Amino acid sequence: MTGRPLCRLQEIPDGQARGFTLGHGAARQDILVARRGGTVFGYVNSCPHAGSPLDWTPDRFMSPDGRHLMCATHGALFRVEDGYCVAGPCEGTALRSAMVRCLEDGTVLVVPDDGAGAAG
Ligand code: FES
Repeated sequence: MTGRPLCRLQEIPDGQARGFTLGHGAARQDILVARRGGTVFGYVNSCPHAGSPLDWTPDRFMSPDGRHLMCATHGALFRVEDGYCVAGPCEGTALRSAMVRCLEDGTVLVVPDDGAGAAG
């Protein structure tokens, strides 16, 4: 299985999310990884409404009640499990997935999007 190590599972607090930068220059991509127990969910850190990063300060991605990912710019709420926007100006759209997974030893991997944005 291919994939690049991002971090250890315990470096993402349960119920929270962390941001990561992949690549450099024109290939740079910012993603976020949310954790629910032993499961991780990855998304491109770009709101479908206006393209802003979701976090207003590094690694602050969750709504105040901790139930959704929240865009800091206009407050759109996204389900952690599939990135679907349940409320806000882009309701009905979804975050673009970034392929991440957690190995049994707790290593969180990302599978780089070599399609250069072709997916989604
Ligand atoms: S840019 Fe995210 S809700 Fe407007």
